[in-house]
Amino acid sequence: MCKKTFPDGFLWGGATAANQIEGAWNIDGKGPSTADVMLFRDPKSIAELNNVHANTDITDEMIDDALKSTDLTKYPKRHGIDHYNHYQEDIALFAELGFKVYRFSIAWSRIFPNGDETTPNEKGLQFYENVINECLSYGIEPIITLSHYEPPLEFCRKYNGWYNRKAIDFFMNYVESVINRFKGKVKYWLTFNEIDSILRHPFMTGGLIESRFSPDEFQQVMYQAMHHQFVASAKTVKLIHEIDPAAKVGCMTTKLTYYPYSCKPEDVLATQQRMRQVYAFCDIQVFGEYPAFLKAKFKNNNIDIHMTEDDAKVMKNNPVDFVSFSFYQTSCVAANADGLALTAGNTTIGIKNPHLPASEWGWQIDPSGLRLSLVDLYDRYRKPLMIVENGLGAKDVVQEDGTIDDQYRIDYIDAHIKAMYDAIHEDGVELMGYTAWGPIDLLSNSTSQMSKRYGFIYVDLDDYGNGTYNRIKKKSFNWYKKVIETNGASVLEEKSQVTV
Ligand code: BG6
Repeated sequence: MCKKTFPDGFLWGGATAANQIEGAWNIDGKGPSTADVMLFRDPKSIAELNNVHANTDITDEMIDDALKSTDLTKYPKRHGIDHYNHYQEDIALFAELGFKVYRFSIAWSRIFPNGDETTPNEKGLQFYENVINECLSYGIEPIITLSHYEPPLEFCRKYNGWYNRKAIDFFMNYVESVINRFKGKVKYWLTFNEIDSILRHPFMTGGLIESRFSPDEFQQVMYQAMHHQFVASAKTVKLIHEIDPAAKVGCMTTKLTYYPYSCKPEDVLATQQRMRQVYAFCDIQVFGEYPAFLKAKFKNNNIDIHMTEDDAKVMKNNPVDFVSFSFYQTSCVAANADGLALTAGNTTIGIKNPHLPASEWGWQIDPSGLRLSLVDLYDRYRKPLMIVENGLGAKDVVQEDGTIDDQYRIDYIDAHIKAMYDAIHEDGVELMGYTAWGPIDLLSNSTSQMSKRYGFIYVDLDDYGNGTYNRIKKKSFNWYKKVIETNGASVLEEKSQVTV
């Protein structure tokens, strides 16, 4: 019998975001971004974790206070894991892992500090050129996300972020500078990370300061801002194809997966409604028009999106080349959730599934949910797929001898890799690659905690900014290295098991 492996050329690697790793928040001309004013949080319960709105909301006053503050422990994304000064060491470790690709994002405010300038900051461009060159020197292909939760702060304060139509031109100015500089070196681009997330954290994703708007109008504001992002995304696809025809551009969506809590038809219907919402945003970027679900929602809620004829044309004519997504967990939906236990998710709340184990942060672990997602996405879009985020956020312990035994992380990823293999081989899904989230420990997006670690590489830093920033290989390091070396064969030989 021939050995089981992933398809030749499968893109194994890891993924990060600038605001969660770089630090150097005000160095070499970088302007402050939304990430630099997000407060550290240490939620002690699922209920606290579930308070997504309170966790991510911000007011002008809070921003003023943040800008006056020099306390990095309150605003940890300002120091990240100091990747800005460690990028060579970090990429060398990724090369040792055998990465074929490395997904990272460019911080817009490193290139255009306030968002509205006309000429780019050369030092910002130079930093990313160094990162790209470093990757290429090891044969690692960069996958670049153009927007991952960090609009420039001034753009949010002065223009109301993405609500303002000018945002499209500002963003395209940034995109043009970046593409012109890096054309020929970067084959894979992603436009907006989890474009749907503007509805969950309007400030981080869309630069919207909610307290400036009345509660009645805020839905309209969010969807209008999101529309501007869709137009910018389509224009980005067009521009990249024009400047660098060999490059491929993908959308990136949060692949939330919900099961009916029971087989009661009303639970199944409620789940279908929720899933239509999950797919709606990807639908726009693949099919180039708003789906029936959103059109009905707009009509029934008096949401009136201002859309020009040119918007409709550019969206229709510039679908993405591939669909990328994050997948961490699944949960349930019921028509009536009274009395049912809730569980936290990727800045979302769901009903607890009694059949699934959960991480320390309450995210339910479900490799079959990944296979299900791959099949659903592929059947719906018939475009190549890429998993650009997946992993387990957990507390790691450094043993007395300096080693870190993160078998739970190995088990988690192992089971998800097996599910990917089945989706490819049993279900015929076209999967281009897999980039594990946070191959090196980084700050949590939702809480800015350092203690929620995803990496194969440990960073000696705690939640309060104490530590040497030294990088240490965990047990999972050699395990993932072997996975890549054998193109998946090392895990496909054994049986799956998930323990947390
Ligand atoms: C994804 C984001 O939604 O989830 C990442 O794109 C984020 O930026 C990841 O880090 C995991 O979430 P958290 O809150 O554990 O960092």
